Parts: sequence; structure tokens; C-alpha cells
Amino acid sequence: MRVPTIADVSAAEGRLRGLLPVTPTWSYPSLSETCGCEVFVKHENVPPVGAFKVRGAFNLVAGMSVAETKRGVVAYSHGNHAIALAYAAARFGVDCVVVMPEGPDPAKAAAVRSYGAKLVESGKTFDEARAFAERMARERGRRLVPPGDDPDIIAGAATAYSELFAQCGELDALVVPVGSGGGAAGACLVADHLAPGCEVIAVQSAASPAAHDSWQAGRVVERPNRSIVDGLATGTGFELTQRIFRERLDDFLLVDDASVVLAQWFLLRDAHTVAERAGAAGVAALLAYPSRFAGKRVGAICTGGNATEAELRLAVESGATGRFPNASSGE
Ligand SMILES: Cc1ncc(COP(=O)(O)O)c(C=O)c1O
Repeated sequence: MRVPTIADVSAAEGRLRGLLPVTPTWSYPSLSETCGCEVFVKHENVPPVGAFKVRGAFNLVAGMSVAETKRGVVAYSHGNHAIALAYAAARFGVDCVVVMPEGPDPAKAAAVRSYGAKLVESGKTFDEARAFAERMARERGRRLVPPGDDPDIIAGAATAYSELFAQCGELDALVVPVGSGGGAAGACLVADHLAPGCEVIAVQSAASPAAHDSWQAGRVVERPNRSIVDGLATGTGFELTQRIFRERLDDFLLVDDASVVLAQWFLLRDAHTVAERAGAAGVAALLAYPSRFAGKRVGAICTGGNATEAELRLAVESGATGRFPNASSGE
């Protein structure tokens, strides 16, 4: 698969201009104090569909050939990528099928359908939904749109990072939540070009460490997938994003799910913003590894805001007690 370049990122910026808003980046003194470093929150929880995934989806669909456009697209996703692709496909008049693991979050399923996409539930896990979508793409000639392992998705996601560097200047580090790795791969491409001194640090849940372990092993590996952090819960690494990580990623940190839930609370309290769990993972890394970031200027990407009611209840309870309530009672 073709490795995207900074020229692809520039092309994506051109395609997205006028279609998507520039998202804000703010620093909140109380959040910085909580984390022990100067934190710049990039609010990718506020664009249409409430997640950075909209960037890659728009870039991919806007760049498709006429023939591809006629055959349609098929995606597999827990939610945000699916909603983003459904939204982009509707905007460009492309037929869209989304495959989700059985029993998806009703709000995310409703959002997919609201854009006119067909929703197919298949398999118990993300990886089973993926196998179904791959078969459908082969059999029906639709373009398969993975959540991250695609040059157009990565180049689209990367535009968040060129915006971020323009908004807050020099940073010592970026902390980027990873599922399939498309967002962090985009961060690597942009940092390499615009901010070679800035460390790019990936973050994943210790309960679903496939991307982390793939990076450490230097090859794609499979791992148990037990995290409650939806967007980061994958059971395998992905080829293209891992290739980019091997070139540029500086570090890869694991956080436990409890610290992600607590980070959601701190984002609510200190940054007045709703983050879904995956969107809070960057801040969770700042909390979990304070000496790694002490006194530095750090960009934390709040990658999405599609939190369920149960998620938010658990986050508030976690904030009130300062510890992680029993997840099974809160879910
Ligand atoms: C809110 C959110 N953050 C982070 C991620 C992980 O992104 P990636 O798959 O590009 O690593 C996802 C993936 O769906 C997501 O929805």
C-alpha cells in the first residue's frame, strides 16, 4: 500500500477547505495544573459528526474516481469512522454500507442511518466486522474504507496536526490516541515536516495493546481486545500505519481504562468539554506518566466527543470519588 506523503496532506487541506471547519485549540490553566505540563487541547470533538474521523472520510470520498463513486463504499467501524463516512458519502452522493459489530451503540447506529447509509451488524468484535466488510468489498466491488489503514484516510487525519501547529506554535510533544493508527500516522507525517523537534507519542489502552505491541515487535501482531475505550479497542495492528510509526513515532504509552475515564472527567471539569473515552486517552497518558511530560508544552488531541450517557455517568462518578467505580455497575 502506498505510504502517504506531506504532498498528500497538502492536497487534503485543499479538498477540506470550505467543507469542514478549522477546530479550536485551547489551553486551560486548571487542566495544565492537573497534568503538570502546559496542555493544548485540540478540539476534534466539535466538528460535524463529533470526531476527527470526518477529515479522513471527506478526503477519501472527495478524491474517489467516478468509477469508484458509482460502485459505492463499505466501511467497518465501532462508530465514529462509520458516521463520518456515511456523512461524507451523503455529501458526495455515494452509496455507503457500514458494518458494525452486533449491538452497536444506538445513538451511533442512528447517526449512520440518518445520513442514508445502510447499516449491517456482523460479528461480536471489531475484527469480525472487518472480515465481513472485506468480503463484501471483494464480492461487490465496493471500495473498502478502513478506519485508518489507507493513505487518503491518513492524509485527511493529518490536516488536524497542520492546523494544530499553526495554532499553537512549537510543542515538545503530541499525545495521540491510537486504534488502527490513522490519526497518529497523520501526526507523524506532519510533525516530521513542520515540527521535527516535537515528539509524537501514541497512546492505547493496556487492555487492547495490539498497535503498541506491533510497534514494539516491529511487525503486525494480534492481541486480546478487552478495552472499554471503544475507538481504541482493536485486536490487531495495521500494516500501513505501523510502517509510518516505525519511521517516525517516538514513543508508545499504554494507559489503563480507569485513567481514561478519569481523564474524561478532567476534560469535563477543566476544559468544559465532552470527550468520549477515546478522546480522553491523550490526557490520560499525561496523568499516568507525569514525569515524562513535566513542564513541557504538550498537544493533546481530544479526538471525539460522542460519549454515551452511561460513559458520562461513570466519568462523573470517577471524578467525584477520585477512583474508578466498578465498570460493570456503571455500564
Ligand atoms: C474518538 C476516537 N479517537 C481515536 C480513535 C482512533 O483512531 P485511529 O483508528 O485513527 O487510530 C478513534 C477510532 O475510531 C475514535 O473514534
